[in-house]
Amino acid sequence: MTKTKTLKNHKEIYLPQKVKILDVVDMTSDVKLYKLEQPKGFFYSPGQFLMASVWGAGEVPISITSSSELHDDIELCVRKVGAVTSALHELKAGDYMGIRGPLGNGFHFEEAYGKDILFVAGGIGIAPLRSLINLVISQKKKFGEIALVYGSRNPSEVLFVPQLLDWKKEGIRTTITVDVKNAECEYCTGIVTEHLTRQKISFKTGHSYICGPHVMLKAVMRDLSLMGMSQDNIITTMEAHMKCGVGKCGHCYADGKYICTDGPVFSYSEIKQYNLLNSP
Ligand SMILES: Cc1cc2nc3c(=O)[nH]c(=O)nc-3n(C[C@H](O)[C@H](O)[C@H](O)COP(=O)(O)OP(=O)(O)OC[C@H]3O[C@@H](n4cnc5c(N)ncnc54)[C@H](O)[C@@H]3O)c2cc1C
Ligand code: FES
Repeated sequence: MTKTKTLKNHKEIYLPQKVKILDVVDMTSDVKLYKLEQPKGFFYSPGQFLMASVWGAGEVPISITSSSELHDDIELCVRKVGAVTSALHELKAGDYMGIRGPLGNGFHFEEAYGKDILFVAGGIGIAPLRSLINLVISQKKKFGEIALVYGSRNPSEVLFVPQLLDWKKEGIRTTITVDVKNAECEYCTGIVTEHLTRQKISFKTGHSYICGPHVMLKAVMRDLSLMGMSQDNIITTMEAHMKCGVGKCGHCYADGKYICTDGPVFSYSEIKQYNLLNSP
């Protein structure tokens, strides 16, 4: 299991650290990539998240899209949807913001050693998976076939395009699919579930890591299970409304599990057992 820093004392849990924004990259009309100065001793696993804050605006959970082992800075990919993410989008390189974390359990991908892996991402769901994909690629001899199916609404919303090309060069079977094509678009068409059966992996013994909107998660997990994949090996990262991020406020509590501390990464078996897809 990857070593994960745990927050011990009260102050560490609730007090944001002030970090400098090193760079901000416009990825699409409403998504920006932030490179943040990494505090000393800060170590995180793929699938973990931060509470990201802007003074006067508030705090929101955001997945870490970089990989601790491969990057010296922390990368966050943020879609502007409301008050706090809009305030984040106003920040520029050289400004400061707050971070608390790393939080959550993260992916335990060592269970997939020797097996095929299928990554399935929808929209900004590619951000938390990117951290894991880069780590898996850095150890790719330890795995069987690796495939990625990534869906976006239209070609202009496809994120991390240069990185997707690098992954292809690394031998990852990459299917990029969009709901709406334009004339020059070289991507496939259709929703991600339409491309699952074409993947050249062993569904019976393989592992899948999925991230995207609820409706996509439900459909992909159901289909992979019907295709013979063990529900213990179908792994996803869940979103929920969060306030504290550390299991204290109860905002993300769902039938026996806190999404923030027991998750956000869960297997399909756990999601069914605890009815997590109907969480707040
Ligand atoms: C563990 C975790 C990891 C996340 N990682 C990322 C990430 O890497 N990048 C990213 O852009 N976003 C991520 N999110 C979602 C992000 O936290 C929300 O978009 C953010 O909280 C919205 O805050 P706001 O103040 O800008 O919007 P608000 O003003 O609070 O809300 C605007 C709209 O967004 C909806 N909304 C708010 N929070 C959520 C949520 N958690 N899920 C779905 N809809 C929501 C509201 O219902 C409302 O319709 C993550 C969420 C969680 C729980
Ligand atoms: S966000 Fe407070 S308990 Fe999970």
